[in-house]
Amino acid sequence: MDTLDFVKVTEAAALAASRWMGKGERDKADGAAVEKMRATLNDMDIRGRVVIGEGERDEAPMLFIGEELGKGGVEVDIAVDPVEGTNLVANGLPNSIAVLAVTSKGGLLNAPDTYMEKLAVGPKAAEVVHIDASVSENLELVANALERSVGDITVVILDRPRHKRLIEDVRAAGAKIRLISDGDVDAAIATAIDGTGIHVAMGTGGAPEGVLAAAALRCLGGGFMGRLKPRNEEEAKRALDMGFDDVNKVLKMEDLVKKDDITFVATGITDGDLVRGVRFFGNGARTHSIIMNSRSSTVRFVETVHRFRAGAFRVRQH
Ligand code: FBP
Repeated sequence: MDTLDFVKVTEAAALAASRWMGKGERDKADGAAVEKMRATLNDMDIRGRVVIGEGERDEAPMLFIGEELGKGGVEVDIAVDPVEGTNLVANGLPNSIAVLAVTSKGGLLNAPDTYMEKLAVGPKAAEVVHIDASVSENLELVANALERSVGDITVVILDRPRHKRLIEDVRAAGAKIRLISDGDVDAAIATAIDGTGIHVAMGTGGAPEGVLAAAALRCLGGGFMGRLKPRNEEEAKRALDMGFDDVNKVLKMEDLVKKDDITFVATGITDGDLVRGVRFFGNGARTHSIIMNSRSSTVRFVETVHRFRAGAFRVRQH
């Protein structure tokens, strides 16, 4: 198995989801991507097990946690988010991606489907920040690491009422803010990519998305810390049942990503900071993906032209 092959999986999901762009049908976009992602994974020479997926077996017909995929072969754990940013696709907004991470068995934290407080930064600030430090302290540390002033730091935060205090604290510290409606995986990764203009991602979002973001940042040498934030007793119990003896524990990179053989792949559905969205052109489409591998320390950007029908085929350079 070549880990580069996994790009076929996110490409298939992105192509399927992008047909629903702007149609106001988030579930249909997700369903189309899930189906294609599952079919593509099932066609691969792997013995895969979904560790982060569409939910528990009883609530998700496909790509549920524990589902086994593939035709047989090397044993791998797979974390997927077929559409990260379903509302973004439904509303035709930027930064939706199809996401997958793959590792040898036991390489990723089995995160319960709850919330997680997150702090993500790029490589230069990876070792200096801490989720328990105050917002102003962390921003000062990031600014020092990046040799710029706090006023030149941009923090991405999900636009949610629960972040009122966080937003006030960031403003008081003097940093800039980019509020996003959805898609905190993309935002976390962007902190580790020069040129995105994003330096920190902070706030609470989905826990599975937190593990996926950590996987990507592990490949990029960035920093990620999290802490589960169950919304109720039931979610807290689920976390305990899954083996978390302390739900308030600070989750460091090594708790989230346990092995050094991570492959992370994302394909753009709509245009974004990281990758471009799917572009259709009559009898085909063009996808843009990022493929990272922690062991080989490679980051590839792959553009693929997909031909849907036989006949004249024009391939442009970009
Ligand atoms: P979906 O694509 O599953 O809708 O997730 C989008 C997202 O914005 C994530 O990026 C984020 O972690 C989470 O939802 C935040 O959850 P909520 O919308 O409940 O605040």
